[in-house]
Amino acid sequence: MRIIIFSWHFLGLYSALWGLATGAFPSSVQIGGLFIRNTDQEYTAFRLAIFLHNTSPNATEAPFNLVPHVDNIETANSFAVTNAFCSQYSRGVFAIFGLYDKRSVNTLTSFCGALHISLVTPSFPTEGEGQFTLQLRPSIRGALLSLLDHYDWSRFVFLYDTDRGNYTVTHGLTRYVSAICVESFNEAAYRRLLEDLDRRQERKYVIDLEPERLQNILEQAVSVGKHVKGYHYIIANLGFKDISLERFMHGGANVTGFQLVDFSRAIVIKLMQRWNKLDQREYPGSESPPKYTSSLTYDGVLVMAEAFRTLRRQKIDISRRGNAGDCLANPAAPWNQGIDMERALKQVRIQGLTGNIQFDHYGRRVNYTMDVFELKSNGPRKIGYWNDIDKLVLVQTESTLSNDSTAMENRTVVVTTIMEGPYVMLKKNWELYEGNDQFEGYCVDLASEIAKHIGIKYKISIVPDGKYGARDPDTKIWNGMVGELVYGVSLDRALVLTVP
Ligand SMILES: *[C@@H]1O[C@H](CO)[C@@H](O)[C@H](O)[C@H]1NC(C)=O
Ligand SMILES: *[C@@H]1O[C@H](CO)[C@@H](O)[C@H](O)[C@H]1NC(C)=O
Ligand SMILES: *[C@@H]1O[C@H](CO)[C@@H](O)[C@H](O)[C@H]1NC(C)=O
Ligand SMILES: *[C@@H]1O[C@H](CO)[C@@H](O)[C@H](O)[C@H]1NC(C)=O
Ligand SMILES: *[C@@H]1O[C@H](CO)[C@@H](O)[C@H](O)[C@H]1NC(C)=O
Ligand SMILES: *[C@@H]1O[C@H](CO)[C@@H](O)[C@H](O)[C@H]1NC(C)=O
Repeated sequence: MRIIIFSWHFLGLYSALWGLATGAFPSSVQIGGLFIRNTDQEYTAFRLAIFLHNTSPNATEAPFNLVPHVDNIETANSFAVTNAFCSQYSRGVFAIFGLYDKRSVNTLTSFCGALHISLVTPSFPTEGEGQFTLQLRPSIRGALLSLLDHYDWSRFVFLYDTDRGNYTVTHGLTRYVSAICVESFNEAAYRRLLEDLDRRQERKYVIDLEPERLQNILEQAVSVGKHVKGYHYIIANLGFKDISLERFMHGGANVTGFQLVDFSRAIVIKLMQRWNKLDQREYPGSESPPKYTSSLTYDGVLVMAEAFRTLRRQKIDISRRGNAGDCLANPAAPWNQGIDMERALKQVRIQGLTGNIQFDHYGRRVNYTMDVFELKSNGPRKIGYWNDIDKLVLVQTESTLSNDSTAMENRTVVVTTIMEGPYVMLKKNWELYEGNDQFEGYCVDLASEIAKHIGIKYKISIVPDGKYGARDPDTKIWNGMVGELVYGVSLDRALVLTVP
């Protein structure tokens, strides 16, 4: 605490600057960026989103530049977070994009609440009022409960950690559940636990762990042979495709999970074209497709830009005038326009990488959709989707369709291809179209002709990583278009169009 008072003196220096701000909407909008350990890829997504905004040729879309003030903090304790928050506050940021962990969440959200600075975050959702906090990450609870109903699980093991504080999705579970916190477990402990549970005939698991721990426990499950037929794992996070499950695929265990980002949507395809061109040295993490938290980060910038556009349109003066930028003033001197900023953020309705983005009064995502995937012997297969309005909707899978040739008429064939002009391109005004109509080019016309000729429907699917495919010499795993086919991301009767 004593050290914090010390930093108060620095902060006073900035105050004079903000008195000079004029009433006009600024042409440079200052925003904060707060990143914690292991969030390189999220930071890359943040920078890319800002870059694309600031270089947008459309003046209606970007009538101002976003100017980020970023702190990357290694240890997210309350002291480091206080310093970062105060330094950004004193620079006059209008809102902060930030990540937190369980040690920093309370400090950060309390500062934001006390000083009326909105926090836009892809981190785990917090419980409670959440004033001035906008949660980009939708709750998984409803989807998980629907899925448990669908599988009719009355008894299972719930493995969790407390990296999200006391928040777990178990609230509302009335079934017989063995909930086990594996927070302090090492690899040997995971193996022992899995063996013990196996002796008790436990074969059904819900795993709610942060990515690092999740990957670790899955590896341990493989090493003790629990990745085979007879076991079923539900992975309680929103990035099923972020997890490597090849060993499970070959083992035969059932694995089910949720996927927030739909890589076949045009907005995602468009972003992936940029993403794949990023220099990995300058943009760490860009060598693999964005994880769902990185997609949420990207969307966070879109949300902030949209809110600023609204405020500008409504001619609301958002200057930080008269606000000294002293985050530790006593009593707290909240930013007068902070309420306007918060309202504008909560009213944002846009389409992002994570689908429809819309918030409720508490800053939580509503009207969102996530796909539900099962791991099949040939890779993840979408079995349906869940949204907070329709709940769980199962789609008929290809394999259950009848096998006679007349059914072929109505079967939708997936045409897997990569984006490469002039063969396959997004139309200039692709936003105005849906599905296949978004694309044009030689291969697109060809697919249309073939489909007409043999009387089938088809759906063009662009390979996310933009490669035809090669086999990794170490992992023996195919990537690119071939990988999509081998691992069944596309449906089983796929046509491959290759660009000559
Ligand atoms: C610019 O962006 C606005 C808002 O997104 C859109 O309505 C308009 O059509 C765009 N103009 C051009 C020339 O792309
Ligand atoms: C978590 O739960 C425990 C016991 O229910 C409680 O003592 C503790 O204060 C809680 N921690 C937080 C951060 O809410
Ligand atoms: C795995 O999935 C298959 C097919 O859906 C099902 O028949 C089987 O009972 C499942 N196994 C477990 C352990 O849930
Ligand atoms: C939900 O989102 C869709 C767009 O994805 C929109 O058309 C619809 O009006 C929204 N529903 C509500 C109740 O806001
Ligand atoms: C589909 O194949 C199964 C056996 O694989 C066969 O029993 C069934 O009659 C076939 N259905 C049709 C409609 O031909
Ligand atoms: C194909 O779909 C059309 C209209 O959706 C339907 O009338 C027809 O019976 C279907 N054919 C088969 C073989 O299922």
